[in-house]
Amino acid sequence: MNDADAQKRAAGEAAAALVQSGMVVGLGTGSTAAWFVKALAARKLDIIGVPTSQATADLATSLGIRIGELGETRAIDLTVDGADEVGPGLSLIKGGGAALLREKLVWEASKSCVVIADAAKQVKTLGKFPLPIEVVAFGHKTTALRICDALAECDIGIAPALRRKDGEPVRTDGGNLIYDAHCGRIEEPAVLAAALKSVTGVVDHGLFLDLADRALIGTPDGVIELEP
Ligand code: A5P
Repeated sequence: MNDADAQKRAAGEAAAALVQSGMVVGLGTGSTAAWFVKALAARKLDIIGVPTSQATADLATSLGIRIGELGETRAIDLTVDGADEVGPGLSLIKGGGAALLREKLVWEASKSCVVIADAAKQVKTLGKFPLPIEVVAFGHKTTALRICDALAECDIGIAPALRRKDGEPVRTDGGNLIYDAHCGRIEEPAVLAAALKSVTGVVDHGLFLDLADRALIGTPDGVIELEP
């Protein structure tokens, strides 16, 4: 296991220790969240997991975690999920795994949200990691042009790139497409978030602002806790 994996695992295990029997728990997506799900399953608690992607639903089920759908369980007590960047005030970029919409739906429905990450994810300014933007497939090239305008309003002069895998456009669990915006620096995340949300055809974006209550960051010296 490399250093980053060891840090992700430590953060996932620290987050699993926060869960108590009887809770409804939002289950994030990605390699760090997978460590959390594994550590949670190992505790054999009486919980219901609400997965944020089909991949996480499959993992949780295979490990014996009872799962429920968003809105079909009691309120979600705690959601634990990874991030691509953790910035000031626990502002986040998420969506590297194309699960940002379901993730945001689950995060926003949770009483408390904990982000888990390895140390390399902590940044002073968001934007080095390409910002994922989920769009509906119909008319997506037109939507991409309008995303350019929204980015330009925020002094970000780049065109977003359609995410592909093996030459084919990546589809989210909901059948949408992802554009990645190589912003470089996002000086005003809230302004950019509002500009992107105002574009018809944009379903959502990977800026998670004012949502994380706590971060558990794996570092070479152990897991550190951050608050907004
Ligand atoms: C999934 O869409 C993402 O939001 C992930 O949570 C994020 O990409 C972090 O993934 P890793 O834990 O694999 O780095």
